[in-house]
Amino acid sequence: MDSSMKLIERLVRYKELKPCTTAFIDTRSPGSDKKENFTIIGPGVAENPDQHVHIRSPHGFNIGGARQPPHCTNSQHSHLTNEVFVVHSGTWAFRSGVDATDGEIILNRGDVISLPTDIFRGFENIGQSSGFLYAVLGEDDPGRVLWAPQVFDLAADHGLVLMEDGSLFDKRVNETLPAGLSPMPKTTPEQVAAHRVVDINVLKEISIRSRNFNWLNTTALSLYDGIEEAALLGPASPAELIPDGHLNWRHGFAMRALKMEPGSRVPAHIRHEEEVIFVQQGKFNIEVEDHILELDPGDTFTTPIGSSRAFVNPGHEVCTIYITRRYDQPAAPEFL
Ligand SMILES: [Fe+2]
Repeated sequence: MDSSMKLIERLVRYKELKPCTTAFIDTRSPGSDKKENFTIIGPGVAENPDQHVHIRSPHGFNIGGARQPPHCTNSQHSHLTNEVFVVHSGTWAFRSGVDATDGEIILNRGDVISLPTDIFRGFENIGQSSGFLYAVLGEDDPGRVLWAPQVFDLAADHGLVLMEDGSLFDKRVNETLPAGLSPMPKTTPEQVAAHRVVDINVLKEISIRSRNFNWLNTTALSLYDGIEEAALLGPASPAELIPDGHLNWRHGFAMRALKMEPGSRVPAHIRHEEEVIFVQQGKFNIEVEDHILELDPGDTFTTPIGSSRAFVNPGHEVCTIYITRRYDQPAAPEFL
């Protein structure tokens, strides 16, 4: 990761997120046309080259987001790498299966779901107001989206063609397809058959409700007053005194939640891998060397590797952050 980036370039504020409303093949399909897609860290899987990437440096995973108004749906698809969602706001139905009919689970604020590569998934904001999902996709290059076959047909009805290089072609702008480039072949029955049919029971096994987080005060970061940590994704990491996550399989990255009482502090320490902090609720300050950055809910920050960092809750309510780190078992934090 680029160590020359200024601290302020490492902070992506929620209110400054730049959405793309034409990132994907289904952006004109009724019911999906109001969704906003964000690429916060890494290029993600957007099909529109005009999409704004807030932070480009490779982390070993990609961070993105989806914001959708009530009743807006993200069409059924799968990925070549793990896809994890944190519900930042709103109430969401996640549906499995090529036709979205195999299973459904409803997730609320703070809940997490980790979708493996062999499940078709889509999601709808079923709440009464706009909702935001924070998303982590595995690896630096997560490849392209595999859309359910009907998504191609719906897009074609609205003038959009997905090309073989992953770009989107707009037939309303130009009638002739670009020379030397063919449309992406529609997803085949064989590709569909390579996916699992999973019901609500499997969807429960791959998700964690925030009310069921196992809050600990025995991990390396939670040995301080007013701090609790929950292991969400990844296997046990003895160096960090972290037990198995609820979702304990290997993702290539680990995710933990940290809960901080007002006024609490995790003292200055150094880490040796990429660390991305997402503020779920409350106020959160991070002190990096001798700078203080003040974060609000929905903000994302990537801490420079090897730098000293301290975490502070400067507010009057509990603060909860979700931290994603490269590797299944990150190195121990070195307290100064
Ligand atoms: Fe996805």
